Amino acid sequence: MTDAGRHPRIKLLTMSEVVDVKGYVGNFEVKILKRARYVEEKECTACGECVKACPVVRPDEFNMGLSSRKAIYSPFPQAVPSAYVINVNECLGHNPAVCSKCIDACEKKCINFHMSDEELTESVGSIIVATGLEPYDPTELDEYGYTRFENVVTSLEFERIVNAGGPAKGELIRPKDRKQPKSVGFIQCVGSRSLRKGSSYCSNICCMNTIKSTLAIKEHYPDIDIKVFYIDIRAFGKGFEDLYTRSRRLGVQYLRGLPGTVEELPDGSLHVAVENTASGKLEFHDLDMLVLALGVRPAKSTQKLQEMIGLQLTSDGFFLEAHPKLLPVDAATRGIFYAGCAESPKDIKESVTQASAAAGRAIRLMHTGTITTEPITSEIITEHCKACGKCAEVCPYNAITVDVKKKIPAVVNSAACAGCGTCAAECVFGAIVMNHYTDEQITGQVDVMLEEKPEEKILTFACNWCSYAGADYAGVSRLQYSPNTRLIRTMCSGRVDEKFIWQAFEKKAPVILVSGCHIGDCHYINANHWTVKRVEKVHKKMEKLGIRKERLQLEWISAAEGIRFAEVMKKMETLRRSVSMEEIEKTVDILKSKNKKD
Ligand code: FES
Repeated sequence: MTDAGRHPRIKLLTMSEVVDVKGYVGNFEVKILKRARYVEEKECTACGECVKACPVVRPDEFNMGLSSRKAIYSPFPQAVPSAYVINVNECLGHNPAVCSKCIDACEKKCINFHMSDEELTESVGSIIVATGLEPYDPTELDEYGYTRFENVVTSLEFERIVNAGGPAKGELIRPKDRKQPKSVGFIQCVGSRSLRKGSSYCSNICCMNTIKSTLAIKEHYPDIDIKVFYIDIRAFGKGFEDLYTRSRRLGVQYLRGLPGTVEELPDGSLHVAVENTASGKLEFHDLDMLVLALGVRPAKSTQKLQEMIGLQLTSDGFFLEAHPKLLPVDAATRGIFYAGCAESPKDIKESVTQASAAAGRAIRLMHTGTITTEPITSEIITEHCKACGKCAEVCPYNAITVDVKKKIPAVVNSAACAGCGTCAAECVFGAIVMNHYTDEQITGQVDVMLEEKPEEKILTFACNWCSYAGADYAGVSRLQYSPNTRLIRTMCSGRVDEKFIWQAFEKKAPVILVSGCHIGDCHYINANHWTVKRVEKVHKKMEKLGIRKERLQLEWISAAEGIRFAEVMKKMETLRRSVSMEEIEKTVDILKSKNKKD
């Protein structure tokens, strides 16, 4: 942090919040609200005289409320810049002006109550999202007594208690009577791996954090009895298993099973009831202090930022990377990268690794001063465009601008366009060309694939990133599926135009499959939502025309689902066999007479 603060090319904006992000890769415009510090940053030497003079005492958030701070304070010991900050809502001197003791105490005259919040705009080429995490709030898990018993603390509170700079100056004491405990228990997975309360995912860091704490206790207080209640210990990082083994060797007891109830005894110690799932027995343990190993949650700002920048979230609420293996630090929107727990729970080493990778990716993108756009982008044929605005509405990247009122034709920003092709599929005027996946190229493939014995073919549209890769995976896994499958690859299922489907039915396709990434996994943010809507629309039209809607199927198949791909194709083959030649011919007649009417 200090290095970042000192670096000549890093601008550190503290006490600031991103309120809006506009633009695209290479040209992002970020609006920032910088809150007033009320202390001149450059002049303040953090001498501490103002703190001594301040009469307002408040709980110190950094020490988890276990100690107090003043209304003028330093957020934490290594804060950069080291200047103090005034919490104006707590301060007596600002409004109404009744105190001003800090102003009198400050010889350098750095306190300035005339400061106000500022709105800044920064132009940047790329963005790294590193919003961190929130610890789980254990108040809802009251069986552990966190809200009722003082000697039940969270892992973060425990960290502050035993920290040399913490409220107990590094002494291990229990909060209720400030006495050194003779026994300490740790409860794992608090708010993690639970379908009942908290989150269903593993928070990744809690096991090792507990192991580290047990080693720290044993180093300073070898006689303290330590018990860890766990589901299973996940020590899979480099050197982690050794730490776990060392902890066990030092006498820490690991008991498989999470406590059912915790009760307080008259002396403040805690009576824990637990089913030991290794022995199958109900056990009772009396402990002087209990530590809840908290799970982690996505940062509070995640949702707001996701809406602001148009990013994707996983079902757990963390940011979703563009590809878990090939682009693990990239967002689906070009020029945006992730670092640390914004993307998933991770420890310090992993966070640093990911941050370095994100910085490297951003530098690689920016260092030449120019951006190379992808060739697969859409283009507007201005003379065909009726400025209806549909393309702009469906574009997941806001890459298309169109003035609907003034009827000014659409314009595609090719730097922002990622090439999903949804706009081209939605344009009913044929005013959009999707380069490298043009209508002519796709209809040409449909023609060729259905040229001979079309009634025997299963025509499948597969998106490049998931379903096509799933088919590939089925192939390399030597999985059997119908050899009459004919695949047409599009970048996204959103590219599958309604007219390709009608064309295929007219060319005597018995069945058609549209397949793409699972909802939420689309490589182009949410383009496959439009696939769903389009297929539903075609289904309705098929019903109206008297064509069996089952003949058009929509399936989500991921790159890892080779088995599923093979199963879906088997299902399609059964469906194909149910379509008679008569039904196919009838469909052709229906569509021909419909075309004549149109
Ligand atoms: Fe697969 Fe969009 S990329 S459905």
